[in-house]
This record gives sequence, C-alpha cells and structure tokens, in this order.
Amino acid sequence: MTKIIDLSIKEKIYRSKESRISILNDFNLEVVAGEKIAIVGESGAGKSSLLNIIGLLDRNYDGEYTLFGLPTNHSDASKLAQWRNQKIGFVLQESALINSLIIEDNIKLPFLYAGAGKKGQKEMKDFESIVDAIEIRSILKKKPLECSGGEKARAVFARGIIMKPQIILADEPTASLDVENRERIVALLFRMNKEFNTTIITVTHDLEMANRHDRIIHLERRK
Ligand SMILES: Nc1ncnc2c1ncn2[C@@H]1O[C@H](COP(=O)(O)OP(=O)(O)OP(=O)(O)O)[C@@H](O)[C@H]1O
Ligand SMILES: [Mg+2]
Repeated sequence: MTKIIDLSIKEKIYRSKESRISILNDFNLEVVAGEKIAIVGESGAGKSSLLNIIGLLDRNYDGEYTLFGLPTNHSDASKLAQWRNQKIGFVLQESALINSLIIEDNIKLPFLYAGAGKKGQKEMKDFESIVDAIEIRSILKKKPLECSGGEKARAVFARGIIMKPQIILADEPTASLDVENRERIVALLFRMNKEFNTTIITVTHDLEMANRHDRIIHLERRK
C-alpha cells in the first residue's frame, strides 16, 4: 500500500495583536492511498486548519510533511500549485464560487487552470457524469447569486472533484443539504473512492457520516 500522506506537526500557531493560539500540538497523520478518513472534534479544535495544511494552502507551521513521497518544505512553489489544482480536490467551508460566472463555468474552472488540452472529450464526460450524479443540470446556466445555499454547496462540491484528484479534502460538505442531496454527495464521494482509489478526508459533525469512513480521527481542543 502506498503511503501518500506522512504529516507530523509539532505545533501550529495563530498570532494576532492580542492573542496567540496554539493548535495541532504533536499531531501525526499517516494515510495510504484509497483510505477514507473522517475528522471530528468540537468547534475550534483545528479541523479546518488541518485540512489547509494537508491541502498545501498553509505551510506556516512547525513540522514535517511528505506528500506523494516528496517532502513539501523542499518542493518548489509551482509544483505545489500544480498539485493543488490537479491532485487535490478542495471542498472547503470558505470555498466561494465566482459570482460573475455561471455555475457550469465555475465547475469547469479547474480545467482552465490546468491549461489547454485538459478540455477534451474525457473531461466533458466527467463533467456530465458529475452533473447527473448530483442532479444540478437545472442550475448550470445560472449565476451563483441566483442559486440556493444547497445548490451552491453542490456546485462547490462538483468543482472540487471535477479533476478526479487523488485526494479529496471536504470540510462539512453536506452541512447545508437535505437528506436526499446529502446522500447523493456521499454516494459520489464513495464511488470515486471505489472506482479511482481516491483518498477521502472528510471533516464532519455528523457521526453517522463519520462512521461510514475507514477511520475516525478525533481532534481535541486544548483547554
Ligand atoms: N486565520 C486565523 N487567525 C487566527 N486564528 C485562527 C485563524 N484561523 C483559525 N484560527 C483559530 O484557530 C482555532 C482552530 O480553528 P479551525 O477553523 O481550524 O477550527 P475548526 O475545528 O475547523 O472549527 P469549526 O468546527 O468551527 O469549523 C480556533 O481557535 C480559531 O479561532
Ligand atoms: Mg472548520
């Protein structure tokens, strides 16, 4: 089994004028390709911060991180940016859609970043199958401000997985959804895991959802 994530954090500190917050103290995580991991813990425990670190959005912490076999502190910025677009799919709490673009173009944005040649027939097929799986065809020509919160959440999810990334990082992806749509998202997530051996890391407050993963990691807030 291929180890794709080998992370050991000594400490992550957020500093501001008045405060200093220390989280993820002596936190270690190893993940093999194809694992489904749920991260749970109370608000403020550091779940989103951890996803930011795993997804290379935050490299400002004390620790070591080897991703896909390469130490990330020695890799160059353009390589890491390429990984963020092509190998890692983000469905984050603060992921925003671009309001001036219709939903279809928002979802296809990662193709654009990847450059020409990535918009071939295969990509269109992936797009179509995701659109069908989470039933968002009716909003494709709408702009984000014309969509409901749940519709936007599904569009953000579609954009996060459109590149068929090796790792999907999802921060409460189903929080704003009704039961039916929650099930569609979870089913698609797990189908990608099965078909493409995609590694899934999901932050969730929903224990039933957490239990459907291979492993649950509890983050504690330091008192
Ligand atoms: N950019 C920041 N600057 C300062 N402090 C921050 C920043 N981001 C997060 N924090 C603090 O770090 C701690 C962990 O935040 P984080 O967002 O990772 O928690 P969380 O577990 O995702 O919580 P929630 O369940 O509410 O989303 C919190 O105390 C938060 O206030
Ligand atoms: Mg959070």
